[in-house]
Amino acid sequence: MDSQVKKAIIDVISLFKGAKEAGLKQVPRTHLEKIIRIEKEIEKLRKSPKKTATSLESVDLLTLEEMVRKCTLCELSKGRKNTVFGEGSNHPILMLVGEAPGREEDIQGRPFVGRSGELLTKMLRAIGLERKEVFITSVIKCRPPRNRTPRKEEIEACLPYLLKQIELLDPKLILCLGATSARALLKTESSLSSLRGSFHDFDGRKILVTYHPAYLLRFGGSRLIDLKKQAWHDLQMLQREYEKIKMEMEN
Ligand code: URA
Repeated sequence: MDSQVKKAIIDVISLFKGAKEAGLKQVPRTHLEKIIRIEKEIEKLRKSPKKTATSLESVDLLTLEEMVRKCTLCELSKGRKNTVFGEGSNHPILMLVGEAPGREEDIQGRPFVGRSGELLTKMLRAIGLERKEVFITSVIKCRPPRNRTPRKEEIEACLPYLLKQIELLDPKLILCLGATSARALLKTESSLSSLRGSFHDFDGRKILVTYHPAYLLRFGGSRLIDLKKQAWHDLQMLQREYEKIKMEMEN
């Protein structure tokens, strides 16, 4: 039940209870007027249910992109210049999922084109992959103000688009860049460090979790050397699995 409707019902009950506790045999007129007002509110809420994504069942990739472009399911739609649907191969073995578009992505309508994008391109090249061979997207398709972490309700509103992208593009491997995408897909609150290091099953696909490039860019010195080592370990794991899947598909 919608939480606003629930609250309205609780308000009505507490008016009845209040009257009973006061020893009244009848609900006072002022209470009745309040109850009628609440009833009208409930009726209004029922007529304008909370917005959710319309059925994505028989939608193809182009239609999905159009739906994302027109999406107004959450507040982020009000501040965006462009939606960032994602780009790359339409038959990728590997899909990369980041958190949300940043300033540059919002301007260009393309994923990972800012500083973290440059690093991501280098990370891919280090394991012999070009951007056009994979599909790159994020959980959230609109930029949050000042690049803040997306809120729970924003993730909930946008996640069906990502799930449909996964279904349509059918990647065998998914690399989650950072904790936000990993937690959204794996339905967990676990820390990034506990999610790294092994593959997670996702409806028969494999998910690997690594650091978001923007996180790597925050550090210097020995912390950066340590993080780079860990990220390189993740990338090598990914590369081995990618090549294994590619060989199986070719034979
Ligand atoms: N960070 C993300 O998570 N996604 C982008 O598209 C860009 C930066």
